[in-house]
Amino acid sequence: MKFKQLLLPALLLIYSLQLVAQPPRWILVAPGVWKALIGKPEAYNLLTASGAKPFAAGLEKMGSVSFPFDQAELAATISDGKTSLRFPLDEDEQLYGFGLHFQTVHQRGKILQLHVDHYGGKDNGRTHAPTPFYVSSKGYGVFVNSARYINVYAGSGVRKDSKNAPTEKDRNTDKSWPAHPYSDAVEMLVPAAGVEVYIFAGPTALDAVRRFNLFNGGGVLPPRWGLGFTQRVKSLFTDEEVAKEAAAFEEKGYPLDFIGLEPGWQSKSYPGTFEWDKNRYPEPQKFVNQMLAKGIRLNLWINPYVSRSAPFYNAIKPYTASHTVWVGEIPDFNIPAARKIFFDQLQKNQVGIGVSGYKIDEVDGYDHYLWPDVATFPSGITAEQMRQTYAMLAMRYTMPMFRNQNKRTYGLVRANNGSGVSFPYVIYNDYYNHEDFITALINSGTAGVLWTPEVRASKTGEEWLRRFQTVIFSPMAMINAWSSGTKPWSYPQVAEQVKELALLRMQMMPYWYSEFAKYHFAGTPPFRGMHLEPGFHAEVKKEAGSSSLEENPYAEAVLKEIKDQYMAGEYLLVAPLFTGQKTRKVVLPKGKWYDFYSGEYAGDGEVLTIEPGLNKIPVYAKDGAIIPMMKPRLHAPKAGEKVDLLIRFYGTKPSQYMLYDDDGETFNYEKGDYTFHQLKVEKNKAGSLIGTISNAPAGKPNTVGNVTWKFMTDTVK
Ligand code: GAL
Repeated sequence: MKFKQLLLPALLLIYSLQLVAQPPRWILVAPGVWKALIGKPEAYNLLTASGAKPFAAGLEKMGSVSFPFDQAELAATISDGKTSLRFPLDEDEQLYGFGLHFQTVHQRGKILQLHVDHYGGKDNGRTHAPTPFYVSSKGYGVFVNSARYINVYAGSGVRKDSKNAPTEKDRNTDKSWPAHPYSDAVEMLVPAAGVEVYIFAGPTALDAVRRFNLFNGGGVLPPRWGLGFTQRVKSLFTDEEVAKEAAAFEEKGYPLDFIGLEPGWQSKSYPGTFEWDKNRYPEPQKFVNQMLAKGIRLNLWINPYVSRSAPFYNAIKPYTASHTVWVGEIPDFNIPAARKIFFDQLQKNQVGIGVSGYKIDEVDGYDHYLWPDVATFPSGITAEQMRQTYAMLAMRYTMPMFRNQNKRTYGLVRANNGSGVSFPYVIYNDYYNHEDFITALINSGTAGVLWTPEVRASKTGEEWLRRFQTVIFSPMAMINAWSSGTKPWSYPQVAEQVKELALLRMQMMPYWYSEFAKYHFAGTPPFRGMHLEPGFHAEVKKEAGSSSLEENPYAEAVLKEIKDQYMAGEYLLVAPLFTGQKTRKVVLPKGKWYDFYSGEYAGDGEVLTIEPGLNKIPVYAKDGAIIPMMKPRLHAPKAGEKVDLLIRFYGTKPSQYMLYDDDGETFNYEKGDYTFHQLKVEKNKAGSLIGTISNAPAGKPNTVGNVTWKFMTDTVK
């Protein structure tokens, strides 16, 4: 009796305690990284799916800093089986991140549902990499480690108990009435009764991104050949047609490091058999050897859905989902037996005979063909969690095949998520808006992923060249001709310009490779938005919404943001033009900037209006930029091959740069087999600039041949 009397109030007390927003307890887990466990976090999350381990040495190097804001400002509540999270938001704070968006960079005010999907034309959180990580202009980052569809209110809700509540205004008479009054919080709803949250300190926004990337294992270090040029051929090409295509590249003098075969390499696709088609590829081993002998590697398209005709169909069947994709079985990669059966086939049939990598397609969406949320998987992981992590699992479990051979890979994937930073895969999609492709490149830098603005076909030579110009300044220089069959020279009026660009990509390989080393060792994204650049303070102007009261009385102010220029590595600012555009504005950060091609001074912290002509993609180099380059060539250097360097220097400011060197192909760098050559530019007694390069320590990799310095900026004038 007594017990019963006490039970109800006790239960009510427990319930109300849960409803009270409690500041979480933060535990320091790495320098500048804190974790809080809220409620009972689920065992399966983004980190367990990726298997990523922090890159401790990189984080140590960044050093300790204090917690980036008042801990009492954070709140977490569990109710209705869901977790609500609240983070502070100052009036002048800007937010970036929450994944791979295509049309917007600034995320403040957004309402999103983070959901792995193809990009459907709207920045609503459904995208190829809906990373639950954001970074603030105040210099910190937040990561919600959950494999659930998370609702994000990025500064949209206004609470009664807001510390800095906006005042009520009368729309009848007050023109300053805002449709969206100031919100002092980023709020999120995670559909699980507990979650793990991480805070990454700065001091700068870029530092917070770096800590996030390092915490997830550090960025990808591709093999050198991965940074060369790649062509994907028509889907039903035969071995002879592929060989002919490669020969045409060689003959015409266009660079080529790897060729991608599309679904037709398999005997059946959608769903696939994961074995070579006997008619198109009668002797796969011979074919692969033949291509390798010409310096061309092969990348194979797959999606993971298994046909009844696959040789391992019966074996894998017990380990597949309740539903199918294009009637193919969906392997549950959380089950070791499923992985073994699936990847043994790839190992035996493809990687084992010399295939260099994969394009993992259709692991993102659409809802119509992917499994529904009611599907079940034999591991017990829910359909929702699988949707959020399937691409990461697929990438993760390809890795042992390459590690066993001590060969790096670099491929393509159509989805990723928070914590997939270190997988050697670049995201692409079927959407084909050039401007939006560049905005995605910007956002990839805060999403912990790589993205390629791939070139497919174009309506005009102008469009072809404009697209080509940007893919050269991206993580993967690729033509995806799976359906069109286009080649770099398909538009004769711009074929020479395209060749020059492809060769420029090759010349810049020492720079690209060093920048990727920085992604790996220091977490710095090689391609990123201007908002992460010190000295960049472009005003985010709010312009009145255009619609009238009849159309939308709650119209939001439109944000004018910089989403068409980006940083490529430490020193270069890329400002592309799009079809039809003759002029554009370039917003230069503070500090002196120089024209990449001529070395001439371009400006300092100002907005330029330029008219560069069709043949040029405008690129600017920072004062003190050291850009290591090499001679134009058709293939990446082989392991250990000595390469002459031509090192460009821009501006007048003495500086230094770390040129990365290793064998370019294996994982030996993980055991310390690498060299950072110090490139240094100083003023001598006479006041002239002199460049020097440090030697490799004894026994460490050294591929540097003769070195020539080129001082691009004429300092005599
Ligand atoms: C698409 C993919 C394309 C191409 C095609 C082949 O889903 O995005 O790049 O690979 O499949 O069927």
